[in-house]
Amino acid sequence: MANNHLTSESKQLATWYLTFAAILFGAQLLFGLIAAIQYVMPGFLYGILDFSIARILHINALVVWMVFAMFGSVYWLLPDETGIETIGIKAGKLVYWIFVAAIVVVVLVFLLIQVGPASDTTIWFITEGREYIEAPRWADFGIVVVALTFVGNLFLTGMKGKQTGIVTVLMADMIAFAGLYLAGMFFTDNISVDQYWWWWVIHLWVEATWEVFVGAIAAYGLITMIGAHRKVVEMWLWIEVAMLFGSGILGMGHHYFWIGTPEYWWEIGALFSALEPLPLVAMFVHVLYDWGKTQGAEMNSEHTDEGHVKSVIKNKPAFTWFVLNAFGNFLGAGVWGFFHTLPQINLYTHGTQFTSAHGHLAFFGAYATILVGMMYLAVQGKNGIKVMKNTKASIWAVSMITGGVMGMTVALTIAGYVQVIVSRAQMGATWAAYFDGQGGAWFTQAMDWRLIMGVITFLGFVLLAKDLLTTGKNPVHER
Ligand code: HEM
Ligand code: HEM
Ligand SMILES: [Fe+2]
Repeated sequence: MANNHLTSESKQLATWYLTFAAILFGAQLLFGLIAAIQYVMPGFLYGILDFSIARILHINALVVWMVFAMFGSVYWLLPDETGIETIGIKAGKLVYWIFVAAIVVVVLVFLLIQVGPASDTTIWFITEGREYIEAPRWADFGIVVVALTFVGNLFLTGMKGKQTGIVTVLMADMIAFAGLYLAGMFFTDNISVDQYWWWWVIHLWVEATWEVFVGAIAAYGLITMIGAHRKVVEMWLWIEVAMLFGSGILGMGHHYFWIGTPEYWWEIGALFSALEPLPLVAMFVHVLYDWGKTQGAEMNSEHTDEGHVKSVIKNKPAFTWFVLNAFGNFLGAGVWGFFHTLPQINLYTHGTQFTSAHGHLAFFGAYATILVGMMYLAVQGKNGIKVMKNTKASIWAVSMITGGVMGMTVALTIAGYVQVIVSRAQMGATWAAYFDGQGGAWFTQAMDWRLIMGVITFLGFVLLAKDLLTTGKNPVHER
């Protein structure tokens, strides 16, 4: 990435955030591979990097790289949307370094202290022990400062510049995003109460605020890449926001079935979470509809020699990832989520590999895809490219990563079904049944396949990194 064509400081800062996000994405996959090897060979790295720690690093790296990429995406689109330079860039840069340094320290501590007592010191300095947000409490305060600075910059810029629908939605959404983090910061010694609040972060993040964020980013992408009409795109965005919050907030009930919360959550969770796929269908239709409308239409188009109108996609790899997002969000979150969201079904699937199948396809389909798309948009801007084409590496990367994650999802779904049928349905969920379910060939082979598909995913990531890094020198793109 030799020549830097960016004149906006906000976009420069965006590339920092997106670059660190890509590095963490790689780290996430490496720790996932280690955990997957440990499923097949339980002794692998035992005492050096235990499964519990590999898993923590895998899923925390996931959350953190996505947060970095989300901040980067906002810094990227703000000057375009508001028409002014982002306010508070200096503070944005400072907290970037604080954030990076905090993550390095937290990871080192995870690696160096892998076992220990459940004490206050542990909570403050080693780990809080809440899945996905395991960082110790000192880091929590750091994250709050980082998030507040980011939200502050977004607000100052949004209030001074042009307030498009996209910016307005992002402003409201990021306040909710930052505020909800607080629900995962206090300690209660009752596990039900603790889980009750912890889900306010996890579920309300991924199924409400992050999804709304995706709606805003998709709207921005459709306008910049295929020249979709802002009025139409923003009308959809408001509809999606209403539907996402309408179903997502009480949809949280699907995590309150079995943790000791009152039984009325069965009905609330069943009803509202069953509605959650609807906005995802809307988002899916929206992307395909706008894409279809540009085919042959005047917007963003060129006339060919024969006089036909040919629509131009300004960034093919990014657009590919955006379209995959529409499919992936619908499949991973909508379909795989719906599968197990009724309490009658969840009674059997809860705590099996089925959850993991859904978790992988949902996080990948709904977030990884669109954030990688934003990385491509940033690389395009940084290298001053007018029309960015697909390269061999970009095509292999997207195919291997998507194929790999789909493969893992299928393997995990099969493993989950085996657990449901053998451990729960046939043998009645006894202690022995649990082990019988995991000992059979269907289960163990599924774990082998998950590992193979994980390796393919990782190799795809290596190609993705290569493609992003060599874009500046690649002559295929139109400058
Ligand atoms: C992009 C959006 C989504 C993401 C990233 C996501 C991710 C996840 C993850 C990682 C888990 C496992 C949590 C744990 O460790 O206990 C989970 C659980 C669950 N998800 Fe989703 N999900 C999404 C959307 C949905 C939707 C739309 C539905 C329903 C239609 C749904 C239904 C469920 C259910 C029922 C569980 C609980 C499984 C159990 O504990 O038995 N999810 N989700
Ligand atoms: C190299 C590819 C990958 C491998 C080998 C891998 C492997 C694993 C393993 C072994 C676990 C622990 C499962 C358990 O505790 O039973 C896990 C959990 C998880 N991984 Fe991955 N993973 C990979 C890529 C990804 C990607 C791309 C995403 C999402 C973008 C992802 C999201 C998750 C989530 C959300 C969990 C927690 C699931 C739950 O508890 O339900 N992983 N992964
Ligand atoms: Fe949920």
